[in-house]
Amino acid sequence: MINGTPLVEAERLSKSYETQTGPIQALDQVDLAVHAGEFVALVGPTGSGKTTLLSLLAGLEPADTGVVTLLGQRLGDLDDDGLADLRLRAVGMIYQSYNLFSGFTVRQNVRLPLQLMTRRPPFDATQRTNQLLADFGLPDLAERYPAELSGGQQQLAAIARALAANPPLILADEPTANVDTGMSRQIVSRLRALADNGEHGVLLATHDLRMASQADRVLAMRDGRIVKETVLQPGRSGREVLAELA
Ligand SMILES: Nc1ncnc2c1ncn2[C@@H]1O[C@H](COP(=O)(O)OP(=O)(O)O)[C@@H](O)[C@H]1O
Ligand SMILES: [Mg+2]
Repeated sequence: MINGTPLVEAERLSKSYETQTGPIQALDQVDLAVHAGEFVALVGPTGSGKTTLLSLLAGLEPADTGVVTLLGQRLGDLDDDGLADLRLRAVGMIYQSYNLFSGFTVRQNVRLPLQLMTRRPPFDATQRTNQLLADFGLPDLAERYPAELSGGQQQLAAIARALAANPPLILADEPTANVDTGMSRQIVSRLRALADNGEHGVLLATHDLRMASQADRVLAMRDGRIVKETVLQPGRSGREVLAELA
């Protein structure tokens, strides 16, 4: 179910990068909105602009032109501190390569966003961390370091960390690329459940159409543009959905 105003909105978003061989248009006039309660997948070949789009939506890089509005605030209007604060409250990022801090235990990684919050979070950090570790099946691994976990376990810890400050928007960049099929399914069904509880909106960049087929909407990117949008009706067979996406 879709709730209220968008969590994040992009309007005519463009970004180019300078390279040795000249400028590359990584994003070209992209429009997009993600609401709470929605699970949106972003598919497209390598180099089509998925990572660039997620990083602009998260305020990690500035756009060349266009506007990103995150929780009602235009990113271009914020100074560095304002942007950092909004990003922490608004966005949970999940990466292909987990990006856990190798010198921190699982528990310390999951707790980190709560320690970075400048405003007091509306929950007890220790309780919140324990709850997330339990939810993600990690209590027995909590005192280990990331290198002592499997890829899938690291990704579960990374998702728990992304959720720690309870950000409404979850941006996941190919989170299942380095984990086995069973774990991929578990990760995607957890993302699906976050959207279904109505509080979160999820944007998942993926190569894998089977993962994308769990979404409410699938946006296909090519050469920095969204070239196709497919709305998926629940209750269809996986085969039908995949045929529609192909
Ligand atoms: N920091 C960068 N410097 C130069 N080119 C970049 C940079 N980041 C991305 N690109 C280029 O922008 C395009 C889009 O890349 P990206 O957003 O990573 O696509 P995707 O995530 O879909 O693989 C590609 O041509 C890529 O080479
Ligand atoms: Mg990418």
